[in-house]
Amino acid sequence: MAQLWGGRFKGETNELVYSFNASINFDKRLYRQDIEGSKAHVRMLTKTGVLTKEDEDAILAGLDGILKDIESGRLEITSEYEDIHSFVEAVLTERIGEAGKRLHTGRSRNDQVALDMKLYIREEIDEMTGYLKGLLEVILNLMKEHVDTYMPGFTHLQKAQPVTLSHHMGAYFEMFRRDIGRLKDTRVRTNECPLGSGALAGTTYPLDREYTAELLEFDRATRNSMDSVSDRDYLIEFLSDLSLIMMHLSRLSEEIIIWNSNEYSFVELDDAYSTGSSIMPQKKNPDIAELTRGKCGRVYGDLMTLLTVMKGIPLAYDKDIQEDKEAAFDAIDTVTGCIRLMAGMLETCKFNIAVMKQSAVKGFTNATDVADYLVGRGVPFRDAHAYVGKIVLYCIEHDLSIEEMSMDEFKAICPEFREDVYEAISLQACVERRRTKGAPGIDPIKEEIREAEIYLNNL
Ligand code: ARG
Repeated sequence: MAQLWGGRFKGETNELVYSFNASINFDKRLYRQDIEGSKAHVRMLTKTGVLTKEDEDAILAGLDGILKDIESGRLEITSEYEDIHSFVEAVLTERIGEAGKRLHTGRSRNDQVALDMKLYIREEIDEMTGYLKGLLEVILNLMKEHVDTYMPGFTHLQKAQPVTLSHHMGAYFEMFRRDIGRLKDTRVRTNECPLGSGALAGTTYPLDREYTAELLEFDRATRNSMDSVSDRDYLIEFLSDLSLIMMHLSRLSEEIIIWNSNEYSFVELDDAYSTGSSIMPQKKNPDIAELTRGKCGRVYGDLMTLLTVMKGIPLAYDKDIQEDKEAAFDAIDTVTGCIRLMAGMLETCKFNIAVMKQSAVKGFTNATDVADYLVGRGVPFRDAHAYVGKIVLYCIEHDLSIEEMSMDEFKAICPEFREDVYEAISLQACVERRRTKGAPGIDPIKEEIREAEIYLNNL
């Protein structure tokens, strides 16, 4: 056990208390941010005359050495220290002596950990944006490739109207685009520097907080020191962003699972992204999609953990806040994995274009268009709707799709039908006539693709 605060104590810490209290096993992940923050702190302290140039040089070189050694594996972060902050300071002092003991001047672990987390989350926001961009690129490629891959669009999971795979994937493009927007918004509120807030009430040293903020590329220093050490709103926002990403990934997974089922067979997953059964040799299971759907619950749980941890925190810092890390790290790791796997799974799967088309033909997805055709012939929509209802019933009873009916059969139900109905209700015509902005027709979908391309290029 190595602690920073032994002076006031006579007795030893109970072993169980020590490990219950310690955070090194998980906050060691913050070593780089901790060192980066310490370097900025020291440079600021030197600028304001609190530390000498000699101390600064020694500390900066010492910190750089620690960083290098951790990254090369020469220095192991061991659990004999309480947390990553104690570890870095202890190793520094061991290596450079006296000067190392001056590092913590005008600082508390409360503002230090608040800083480390913000630096870490800021990086993760950028990284997550990059992974989402990769996923959007895969989706955009599918959109480009499948502008005329017809399929049924569903409501209530019942075939509704014909769309294209391009249009369907375009919906997911929008969801993940909004997710990137939310990450960007969260970044704005994350990007204020808490360092220099001390334990809760600032410090008596002449700190230049704006300078530290500038060195660490924050937009500004935070305004209130009590808020600064206890604010985890940005983390809750971030986990809420991640929860929405997972919700979108889970919806897409659900569709992949349905499409990959024997009954649908719209898609076949690549071997690399499927798993088998230990007993049923014929099985090829969509485990990755199922796990993504399942892990969505886990990320919601992480968000709930943070919301609940924070709800009873009296100002300023309380140790409960240490619980922020495992929840945040778990959510980050989970979401990162799921986004990357989804990109790979989509990139490698094979869509059964003929099956999808046949499914749209068979499902009366052109029923609305038949009604619209009658409206074009002067029949009021309500009457047209009733005629087409009769047609559908007739087709079900005779195992036909609408376009398989003869002209006589059409006319027996409504005399307004003419030969041109066949052309008007073909799958292609049904999709093609949907030309409003955002619809699956070729012009609007090409416009959507063009816009998506510009968006990705500027991201
Ligand atoms: N491990 C602590 C955390 O993650 C660091 C801050 C400790 N501060 C304190 N006053 N004990 O929150």
